[in-house]
Amino acid sequence: MAAWVEGRVIERIRWTDTLFSLRVEADLAPYQAGQFTKLALEQGDRRIQRAYSFVNPPSTPYHEFYLVEIPGGELTPSLGALQPGDTLLVQSQATGFLTLSEIPPGRDLWLLSTGTAIGPFLSILAAGEAEQGFDNLILVHGVRRGEELSYQPLIAELQARLGSRLHYVPFVSREPWPGSMAGRIPAAIDEGALQARVGLTFSPEYSQVMICGNPEMVKATQQALIAQGLAKNLRRTPGQISAENYW
Ligand SMILES: Cc1cc2nc3c(=O)[nH]c(=O)nc-3n(C[C@H](O)[C@H](O)[C@H](O)COP(=O)(O)OP(=O)(O)OC[C@H]3O[C@@H](n4cnc5c(N)ncnc54)[C@H](O)[C@@H]3O)c2cc1C
Ligand SMILES: NC(=O)c1ccc[n+]([C@@H]2O[C@H](COP(=O)([O-])OP(=O)(O)OC[C@H]3O[C@@H](n4cnc5c(N)ncnc54)[C@H](OP(=O)(O)O)[C@@H]3O)[C@@H](O)[C@H]2O)c1
Repeated sequence: MAAWVEGRVIERIRWTDTLFSLRVEADLAPYQAGQFTKLALEQGDRRIQRAYSFVNPPSTPYHEFYLVEIPGGELTPSLGALQPGDTLLVQSQATGFLTLSEIPPGRDLWLLSTGTAIGPFLSILAAGEAEQGFDNLILVHGVRRGEELSYQPLIAELQARLGSRLHYVPFVSREPWPGSMAGRIPAAIDEGALQARVGLTFSPEYSQVMICGNPEMVKATQQALIAQGLAKNLRRTPGQISAENYW
C-alpha cells in the first residue's frame, strides 16, 4: 500500500483561466527529476487521486506541480480551488521512468512536450544534470494559445545559465504567435522544420528524445522519429525515444 502524507499549499500561481501551479510542502521520500507522484482530495467518503509530475528539481524545499483545470474533471476543479494554507494528500513515494537515469548517453537531448507536460522537463533542466551529459538541450513546448506558454521566467533563467546550449522552441497551434512555430510538433519533424529551426538533425548516433503529454502527440511524434531512423528506448534494447503519456 502506498503511503499518503498531508501536504500544505504554500503558493498558488495562476497562469491563465485554466492553467495553474501549486507549491506544496510535504515530507516525501527522495525522488528524481522527471518523476511524478499522486495528489488526492477526499470528496465525501471517496479519495480522488491523480498523477502529477514534479516541476521543481529535487533539491528544492517545496514540491511544485503544474496543472490544467479540466472542465467537468473529477479532481482538477477542486485542486484549482485550493488556496495557500489548504491541505491535500500527497503520495510519499514518487515513481516514473522519464528520468535521465533511464537515458543512454548522447550529444543532443530533445525534450518534446505538450501542455502541462513541460513540467518534468523543467525539473530535469533545473536540476542541472542534463548539461553535464549532453552538449545540446532542446526544450520544445506545444500549446494551443500563446498565453499558455507558461514558466517564461524560469525558462529565461535556464537560458541565461545555459546560453546557446539550450534551444527553447515554443509551438502555438491555434493562433499566430511571435517567436513561435505554428502547428504541431510531429508535422514539423516530418517536414524537417523543427530540425531547421534548431540547426540540429536526428540521428541514432547522437540524439536522445524524451516525449511527454497528449497521448496522440506522443504516438505521432514517435512515428515521426522512427521515420527519421530513431528507435524506442527499452531497458532490454536501448534506443533513442523515451515517452510518457499524461492520459
Ligand atoms: C504519469 C502522469 C503524470 C501526469 N502529470 C500531470 C501534470 O503534471 N499536470 C497535469 O495537469 N496533469 C498531469 N497528469 C494528468 C492527471 O493525472 C489527470 O489525468 C488530470 O489532472 C485530469 O484529472 P481530472 O480528474 O480533473 O479529469 P478526469 O475527469 O480524470 O478527465 C480526464 C481527461 O482530461 C484530459 N486531460 C487529463 N490530463 C490532461 C492534461 N494534463 N492536459 C490536457 N488534458 C488532460 C483528457 O482528455 C482525459 O481523458 C498526469 C498523468 C500521468 C499518467
Ligand atoms: N488549453 C485550453 O485553452 C483549454 C481550455 C479549456 C479546457 N481545456 C481542456 O484541457 C484539455 C486540453 O488541454 P491542452 O490544450 O493543455 O492540451 P492538448 O489538447 O493536448 O493541446 C496541447 C497541444 O498539443 C497539440 N496536439 C493535440 N493533439 C495532437 C496530436 N495528435 N499530435 C500533435 N500535437 C497534438 C495541440 O494542437 P491542436 O491545437 O492542433 O489540437 C496543442 O498545440 C482538454 O481536455 C480541454 O477540454 C483546455
